[in-house]
Parts: sequence; C-alpha cells; structure tokens
Amino acid sequence: MSKHILILPGDGIGPEIVDEAVKVLSAVQQKYSLDITTDSALVGGAAYDAEGDPLPESTLEKARAADAILFGSIGGPKWDAIARDKRPERGLLRLRSSLNLFANLRPAILFPQLADASSLKPEVVSGLDILIVRELTGGIYFGQPRGIREENGERVGFNTDVYSESEIRRIGKVAFELARVRGKRLCSIDKANVLEVTELWKEVISDMAKDYSDVEVSHMYVDNAAMQLVRAPKQFDVLVTGNLFGDILSDEAAMLTGSIGMLPSASLDEHRKGLYEPCHGSAPDIAGQGIANPLATIMSLAMLMRYSLDRGDVAGAIEKAVEQVLEQGLRTADIYTEGCEKVGTAAMGDAVVAAITSAAHA
Ligand code: IPM
Ligand code: MG
Repeated sequence: MSKHILILPGDGIGPEIVDEAVKVLSAVQQKYSLDITTDSALVGGAAYDAEGDPLPESTLEKARAADAILFGSIGGPKWDAIARDKRPERGLLRLRSSLNLFANLRPAILFPQLADASSLKPEVVSGLDILIVRELTGGIYFGQPRGIREENGERVGFNTDVYSESEIRRIGKVAFELARVRGKRLCSIDKANVLEVTELWKEVISDMAKDYSDVEVSHMYVDNAAMQLVRAPKQFDVLVTGNLFGDILSDEAAMLTGSIGMLPSASLDEHRKGLYEPCHGSAPDIAGQGIANPLATIMSLAMLMRYSLDRGDVAGAIEKAVEQVLEQGLRTADIYTEGCEKVGTAAMGDAVVAAITSAAHA
C-alpha cells in the first residue's frame, strides 16, 4: 500500500538538512522499491512570511492526510519580535498538539567513531545507548491558564504545569513497552519533592510498574537526573518524563553523543503516525552556509521508516550507512576532530546515499 510523506523544511538550516534526507529517501525508495509519495509545505517563519501564520490551514490539512511527516527546524531571530501566537515555535507546537503526537522518542546513541567528539571522557560515553521518552502534548507547554498580566503595577508571567492520570498512563505505556524490548530498565523523572503534578506522575508510573514486572523501574528527581546524565549516563536505558523536563534533558543527552547535530526524534500518536525531526534547532547563525550536519535529520528518516512505515530493515540500512560514513572519517564541522575529513552538508548527504546504494540488500 502506498504511503504518503509530507516534507516540512521550515527555517534556518531546515531546508538544507531536509534536502539531504530527501536524497536519502529517494535512494532507499529506489533500492527497496518503496511505494511512497511525497508533498511539501511551509511551516514556521517561512509560513508566517508567506501567509501570516506559522501553521497555515493548508499545511495542517496536508499533515493530517500524511502517514508521516519529515520536519526540518523552525525559528530564528527574524521572528522573535512578532506576536507570540504567530511565532514559528507555535506552529510546531500546534502541529504536535493538533495531530496528538504525544509520544516523543529521543534516542541518544554514541557512534564509537565519535567518542572523541563528546565533551565527556570517552570511557564515560562509549557504548552509550539511551532513549528519552518525552510527553509532548501536555504539561506546562500547554497548561492553562498562561500569560503575562498586570498585577499591582507590574507585569506577572505565569504558566500551568498539569497532567491528568490518563495522559501519564498513555506516555507511561509507550515507555514501558519500549523498555521491554530494550534493556528492560525504566527511569521515571520527576520533581515529586516539590511539584504535585509530578507527585501524581510518580504515583501513576509506580502503579503501572505492577503490570510490567519484567521491567525494572526507578524514579529520579530531575535535578539529580541532570547530574547523573553527565556523571554516569550509561546507568540509564529508557527515561520517561514530562514535556519540559524532557526538552531540557534531551538537549543534555544530545551533547553526550558529541553533537546535538546527531540526535533524531520521533513524535508519535496512538496509531504510530509520526512527525520526525532532528532535536536541534534552526541554527540561524550557520544557515545558508552549507555546513550544517544533516545526520540527525537523516536518522530521523530512519526512525520514520521504522515506526510509521514498519520498515525496520530500511531504517537499519540508513543507520548503517551513517555509521559507515563516520567510519570513513567524514565529519561536518560540529563533530570534526583532528585527522578526519571536514565536509559540508551536501557532501555528507551524498556520502550517505553512496553508502546505501553500494551496500548489499539488508
Ligand atoms: C524541541 C524544541 C521545541 C520544544 C521548540 C522549538 C518549541 O526545543 O523540540 O526540543 O521546546 O519542544
Ligand atoms: Mg528542545
């Protein structure tokens, strides 16, 4: 059956890195005779510039109709001063929420070839393979009331951190099931010593643990988790947490792998429809220079193959090709270390395509 992928390049380095992932998509489409159709649309600042809305109705319609979405990145200083609800980030947040993409999977895997690119000692990170499961459509990102109001002659900003039991169970189930097919360890991150919303989070996850006796469950306060991630990250297998803690911890985990330019992500709904995007932002400082690392986006495409298209074999082939180009010594600037060959965005993408094309069928 034909599958439909919507491509949303976005802003900043988004279009450059997505171009490389699209090259890889064409390569696997040909090699594996995949029946895939694609379309593209505007999102973020690019959509605001063209249509006055970071998520135009036409883009949302296309997103609803797709089986999966490949997303670049959004935002930039150009749009910092516009009305809050028109900012590029709001487009992405509305997309996540409108499509019910509540389960955000952010794997942090260290390729052995990049052990020296990490800011941590190689022995601390070598062999690292952790998965952060971040709740993506609730918590303080979406809680009401929110805003900035006048109070006693000054401005007061406020947000609401809120999770219902069903929301916690829904993301908990995803995390437990993923832990089950990985290292069978799940660490739930909270701040239950201070915040009631995470006290409930901890209680619900503890209760669910009874149904997953094969998974070893632990709980950790978020401040300690932030420390443990840089002290001894390999103690973790799967981490599950709310929207805000997950945002922060996943950036931290990214750095363990050498560069945030290496971290892919999947945001899934209950039926495995997904939006796939690199964890990094739009990097306006290097946009248009052809030096951005396309590997996180290419590996996001691999996740798309695995989760939304049920093609774990194709996903594996893409990941293997990435490992191969790293093995060849090719590096974009963000992961460059001495003795390697520094390449730009397009050359990196081309090398991955060449590795896929020349590999034996998976
Ligand atoms: C991420 C990003 C987004 C988030 C921004 C761009 C809204 O930081 O995907 O981690 O905070 O979720
Ligand atoms: Mg983030």
